Amino acid sequence: MSTHPASPVGILGLGAYVPERVMTNEDWGRLVDTTDAWIRERTGIARRRFAAAGETTVDMAEVAARRALADAGLTPQDLDEIVVATDTPEVYIPDTSAFLQHRLGAREVPAYDLAGSGCAGFLQAVDVAFSRARETPRRVLVVAVELLSRLMNWQDRATCVLFGDAAGAAVVGPAPGGVEGGVEGGGPRGGRVIEKLAAVAGTDGRHTGILTLETGGTRRPFSLEAAQQGLHKDIVMDGRAVFREAVTRMTAASREVLRRAGVAVADLALVVPHQANARILKAVAQQLDLPADKLFSNVEDYGNTGSASVPLALVQAREEGRIREGDLVLLTAFGAGFHWGAMLLRF
Ligand code: ACO
Repeated sequence: MSTHPASPVGILGLGAYVPERVMTNEDWGRLVDTTDAWIRERTGIARRRFAAAGETTVDMAEVAARRALADAGLTPQDLDEIVVATDTPEVYIPDTSAFLQHRLGAREVPAYDLAGSGCAGFLQAVDVAFSRARETPRRVLVVAVELLSRLMNWQDRATCVLFGDAAGAAVVGPAPGGVEGGVEGGGPRGGRVIEKLAAVAGTDGRHTGILTLETGGTRRPFSLEAAQQGLHKDIVMDGRAVFREAVTRMTAASREVLRRAGVAVADLALVVPHQANARILKAVAQQLDLPADKLFSNVEDYGNTGSASVPLALVQAREEGRIREGDLVLLTAFGAGFHWGAMLLRF
């Protein structure tokens, strides 16, 4: 791919996908000891989407990826690199990105996963993609995809009601025709890209045990005994600790990214956080002094879709006209690890 070194790098296209099947709180009430009222009050979730029986992680990733490519006016042949963020891979070895490269019919480009990075995976992957595209001009496909319904414990009411399945994608690369000698081929935006103004990320590995699915690794390999006890699907979560850390870390990361960019909360058009649950989002907004109408949330309809939640929400916000050209949009996420991050975009 030939390009001018000064081509501005940005997000060229976005896409998302949710499966058709709707799983309501009432549906959960028929399977475990819970109620619609409890789930709504504690989480703000009313329904979520679950993948169909034969649907797999790469099926979902492919749809989101093709939508992001179409949004960018590109084809899979235009890609120079692929990164997939997921906690629910297609298989254990090799990584999901290899399946996706083949499924898309992309060239034999580098492809890799950011595995186990939890709900902060999309922001981490996009940040890596920006670095790679700036280092050597290239178009990087980022896909965040979670098929949590298949790997979670359907008997554990404390975790199963929280999650949903989804995929989101972004193409990061130099602006099409943005400058003389720019990348060949146009996009629908006439050379405009979504700019990344600043990003921060962090990890506190003291908390690896507070939100974890341990079985399957070297510490606790798969065994018949573990499977009989259902441990292969045992997502262990200290809900209160996660709640506390999520609010603290997303607030601090948001403040830091705004400070670095010299932007005030009042200048933001919208904040699109990881959709963990409504109470976490409300607490972050309160701490940031953010008016309620500048907080985007779709957690009521989709639940917590892990790393896919930020791009899914971003795509919906744009489709609903909540984001206009020139708008400053803040993304923030927090997840297992604990990992967290924030990113400021200009559309
Ligand atoms: N239905 C009914 N009762 C339930 C359910 C359920 N689905 N789940 C738990 N309970 C019960 C508990 O057993 C407990 O009963 P007890 O008092 O008899 O022992 C009671 O409700 C209270 O449980 P708590 O865990 O104290 O409830 P809490 O108010 O903390 O809410 C929740 C739990 C919703 C998980 C909350 O802690 C939370 O939102 N934490 C954040 C976790 C999160 O968002 N995780 C997502 C993944 S990580 C991420 O995305 C950042």
